[in-house]
Formats: sequence, structure tokens, C-alpha cells
Amino acid sequence: MSASSSPVPTPRRFGPAGPLTGRVRVPGDKSISHRSLMFGALAVGETRVSGLLEGEDVLATAAALRAMGATIERESDGTWSIHGVGVGALLQPRKPLDMGNSGTSTRLLMGLVASHPIAATFVGDASLSKRPMGRVTEPLALMGADFSGTTLPLTERGLSPAVPIEYRLPVASAQVKSAILLAGLNTAGITTVIEPVPTRDHTERMLKGFGADLWVEEAGGERVIRIRGEAELNPQTIEVPGDPSSAAFFAVAALLVPGSDLTIENVGLNPTRAGLYRVLRQMGGSIEELNPREVGGEPVADLRVRYSALSGIEVDPTLAPSMIDEFPVLFVAAALAQGRTITTGLEELRVKESDRLAVMAAALRLAGADIEEREDGLVIDGTGGEPLPGGGPIATHLDHRIAMSMAVAGLASRAGMDVDDTRPIATSFPAFEALLDTAAGQ
Ligand code: S3P
Repeated sequence: MSASSSPVPTPRRFGPAGPLTGRVRVPGDKSISHRSLMFGALAVGETRVSGLLEGEDVLATAAALRAMGATIERESDGTWSIHGVGVGALLQPRKPLDMGNSGTSTRLLMGLVASHPIAATFVGDASLSKRPMGRVTEPLALMGADFSGTTLPLTERGLSPAVPIEYRLPVASAQVKSAILLAGLNTAGITTVIEPVPTRDHTERMLKGFGADLWVEEAGGERVIRIRGEAELNPQTIEVPGDPSSAAFFAVAALLVPGSDLTIENVGLNPTRAGLYRVLRQMGGSIEELNPREVGGEPVADLRVRYSALSGIEVDPTLAPSMIDEFPVLFVAAALAQGRTITTGLEELRVKESDRLAVMAAALRLAGADIEEREDGLVIDGTGGEPLPGGGPIATHLDHRIAMSMAVAGLASRAGMDVDDTRPIATSFPAFEALLDTAAGQ
């Protein structure tokens, strides 16, 4: 039984550690893994995926796609084989789709269901059930889908043929963009999404790779993405690069623990995802990109990260979408930097798996850091490299990234950090604790 399937919280103390050294390899990218399964499930023929992230969120996507007719199997060497049903041919699921903790599964699958003549009920855990779905139900309703509400549990009834729309994103969200484009896949005519602020572009890159008629233009400083619907998708062979959002915890840990010199292999560095590494370098972090190459159509490198004295900075808010999941661990880095770090423009963090501004402010205060919480960001006065006192218990609120960030804070503390529940880590990074213990020689 995995720790995460335990019915009771699994607390753990993350104690001060020796230097992080050697090499680690982080699991496959979560965003690309979800999309590999979804697009494979819509292609006719066999899609093969290596390096798929086998975390609970991605497994929830796989289970939902199976319930809608796709054949998805894991082979003994870890390759995943997907036999798709074809665009427009998803079947009515017989039972509610259990999305667990996963916003990406929920929002993207809502897009797929929207233009099929089927109904699906989406259910999730306590964290997911609090998250706003209106941001996807609103545009999908314009295309013809019907929703019983704007939070989970909810039932969606799709419409076929659906109506193509042109939609300007009111929030910078790759999930909303992707939901609309996926609904557009099975909608005759051209569906258009206008993105005033660019967000991760895996959907666009991968749909093109699967042969969809999708193109991107720039107009008046905005990205305009169009898809011509009722296309066929061709099966692909995909190698999923390592997840920069998972690598982030190891990069910050190595920067903070004296004497560290760690190489993180195979890290995806798509510019729409790599903002954290820019910011950490601006703070004085030593992060070298070795062996740059392409994996699965994405830029990838090995990152050599060495212990560094960090300085506080004002983080450019325009970088936020390219590091939206990395702020919890950036706040940990800032708590040990010299001087003040100011972050702004981060309202979206309040509607992630937890309210990441409030939860990280509370967690870092318990650890002994000097934090001011503002409506749209945190202001952090760092210790100048002194370890945090440590403490707890840290309330993680079913949020994997809070648990992993505070584990990193524990390595750079005097007394260690008590994390109330490590189960959520399995949603995105099941091997995290084992890898961290190995890298820190514990
Ligand atoms: C994701 C997009 C982001 C991110 C999430 C994964 C995706 O969410 O936080 O972890 O795969 O499209 P938003 O698009 O809501 O910002």
C-alpha cells in the first residue's frame, strides 16, 4: 500500500541534512504526462509513452480515459501503451470519474467531454472540491456543454455538435486554455483562444505533434491560438522529459545546504516553465545547464546546482506564469537569502491545491522566518544563510508542493521541520522522500 492510500495522515520530521551530492533523476513532467494519455486516447492506433509520471494525478487521468473507452496499459519495462478511440468517440462513463487531487485532470477532461454527446460526473478530494471550476465551465457552456455547478462534485453534459467560440482568457491559465482547445478538437469550425499572458504551451506543441490543425499567431502583444476541429489525431511515440517543477525542490535544497553539489538529470526547460531557474540565478544561485538537448520536442538539460549565498530580490511578476507551481519552494529559498524578497501578482496561488500564500506564510512563520503576507504575494526577510530555527507541525492542507517545500526547509533548519502529512506527495512525485534521503546521504 502506498503511503498516500493510508486512511490516516502520515507525518514526518525532515531534519537538518549534510550536503546534497551526486546525481538524481526526477520523474516525468506532470503536464506532459496528462496530455500524452489524453491525446493518445483520442488518436486511432497505438501511442507509446516512455518516462510517464506514475503519480496519482496522472493515474486519475488514465482511469478516467479507460472509463471512457481507451485502452491504457503499462508494460513491464515501464512503457505505457495507449489505444485511442478516435476524436469524437469517447464513451459515456458508467461511474463518476474520481479526479482525486488533480485540477489538471478535471479541467482538461471537462474540455474533452464538452464536445461529446455524453455525460460525466466529476468527484475529487477535499482540496479539489474547493477549487474554482467556473473558469472552465463558463467557456465550455458557451460551446454548448451543461454543468450542474461550478465546484466538484458536478455533472457535465456535453453537446455534439458543439459551437466553436473565440475566447479571451480572463486568467492566465494553461488549464483553461487547454480545456477550450480540447473541446475544439471535436467541434466543426475554428475555435480560438486569445492569451494576453502566455502560459505553458504543451497543449499546442503536442497537439501539433499529433497532427491537429492548430496554429499560433501574435496580435497586439497577445497570443492567438486557433484549432480547426473534427480532425483526426495520429498516434505518437513520446518520451516525457523530467519535470522542472519536481526538480525545483532539489535545486533549492542544493542551493541552501552548505557544501552541496548536485546534478539533476533530464530537466525539461521549456521557456514557459523555467522561470524559477532564472529567478534563482538572479538571486545568485549557481545553476549550470549541462548537455543541453531535445527530448520529446522540449528543451532539456542536466542541471548542476551548487550551494550558493543567495540575495533577496523583487521577483518580476511577468515571470509568474512560467513558475506558477514553484513559488512555495522559492519562498523557502527567500527565507534563507540575504535581505528582502518581494513577490507580487500572485493572486492565482490562492486557488491552487491550497491557498499557497496563506499556507506558506503560516508554515514559514512556524519555521521561524520573517514573513509578511499581502493580498497578491509574500514579502520575506531572509536570514542571510543562517539555518531557520525549525518547528511545526506544518499544516500542508492536502497540498503536495507545500509538503515538499517544507521538507526542503527542514534540511536547511536547526531543529528540523515537522510536516503533518506526507501522503499528498504521491500525487506528483512518489519517489521524492527516497530520492531526497539518498541525495542528502541519509
Ligand atoms: C497546469 C497548469 C497550471 C499548473 C498546474 C498544471 C497544466 O495550472 O498550476 O499544476 O498542466 O496545464 P493553471 O493553468 O490553472 O495555472
